Amino acid sequence: MYRLVCVGCGTRYPPDEVIYNCTVCGHLLAVEYDLDSITIERQAWERRPLSVWRYRELLPVSIPPVTLQEGGTPLYHLTRIGEEIGLPNLYAKHEGMNPTGSFKDRGMTVGVSMALQLKKTSVACASTGNTSASLAAYAARAGIPAVVLLPAGKVALGKVAQALMHGARVLSIRGNFDRALEMVHELCLSHGLYLLNSVNPFRLEGQKTIGFEVLDQLGKSPDRMVLPVGNAGNISAVYKGFVELAHLGVLDGMPMMTGIQAAGSAPVVRAIQQGLAEVEPEPRPETVATAIRIGAPVNAEKALAAIRKTGGCAEAVTDDEILAMQRDLAQKEGIGVEPASAASVAGVKKLVETGVIDRNETIVCVVTGHLLKDPETVIRQCKAPLEIDADLPSLLSALQSCS
Ligand code: F0G
Repeated sequence: MYRLVCVGCGTRYPPDEVIYNCTVCGHLLAVEYDLDSITIERQAWERRPLSVWRYRELLPVSIPPVTLQEGGTPLYHLTRIGEEIGLPNLYAKHEGMNPTGSFKDRGMTVGVSMALQLKKTSVACASTGNTSASLAAYAARAGIPAVVLLPAGKVALGKVAQALMHGARVLSIRGNFDRALEMVHELCLSHGLYLLNSVNPFRLEGQKTIGFEVLDQLGKSPDRMVLPVGNAGNISAVYKGFVELAHLGVLDGMPMMTGIQAAGSAPVVRAIQQGLAEVEPEPRPETVATAIRIGAPVNAEKALAAIRKTGGCAEAVTDDEILAMQRDLAQKEGIGVEPASAASVAGVKKLVETGVIDRNETIVCVVTGHLLKDPETVIRQCKAPLEIDADLPSLLSALQSCS
């Protein structure tokens, strides 16, 4: 049993109402379960495969879900990077190992299933790339059409390729993500498409399972969860999941929720560091981490609460710091992630250096998307392969000259 509740004024809406904002005050909605009527047996969960659907008692879907077997992603101990920055208990949850290569699949398995449950026949989103790739794939799996709006020229190649190949109607707008989201929101309200951006409270339900899996994999709560922040949905979702587990008595400590943004696109960081009640949008967001190139995060209100209520913090990292950490993860740990994902670990490094993070903490960084999402940014950082004649002497002399 669940209902939709406004995060601003608390107005309640029935679970089957297709609504994204409170009609009284305009704030976003959240899914609220009757937690007192739910009992969670951790052992029963452990008998199921590690995946989004392991946690189905805390998800709103009652039909057979639209699934590509999402979740169950690896949690890696970052031994070398941890040693370098002085954190023996540093981990990365590699969400790039999901079916379409990002954490968005957790949201879409639930969101597209809800579209069918609510009898919607088409879906739409605006995206910096990953949401569109994921929506396109899950819509294909569900057999319904998808429309996606992208900021022209600012979406990594792999993501556009996915959205196109999975058959979505892909439109590039001459404007940034924030404008694309306004437009698609209007389109959905006026033409009945089901909106699957993170203003959709059901989508975030799927994403909260990142935190649940971390608890199961680590065997305890981490002291800190660190996430890259764009539209601020994911950090809010993971926090909401932890709050639910705390209510159910199965959380052994609330992790400090920590958000990392790119310096050229950091309204949440500014709000936290300056103690503002609300974020002041960044009118011209810019960063190499195009996934989080967002100036007006729609979930900011939820994210500020998550960070503040858990004693967490927020930090900004430069593009150079992001790319250096992308290379470190790839070359020192064997973990290939896209730039936005590297931001979380780059942020931890900075917070250790500035003394904000205690070296004894157990920290889980969510690395949100796969290296192959953005091949152009990778190639720009690496030396091109040396082309040689097809004979052994040429090979040996080339190897000698590189060593
Ligand atoms: N990391 C990656 C790889 C992302 O694609 C995104 C968001 C984030 C982090 C930030 O998550 O928005 O919940 O704070 N990408 C969205 C998209 C906006 O359209 O794919 P958030």
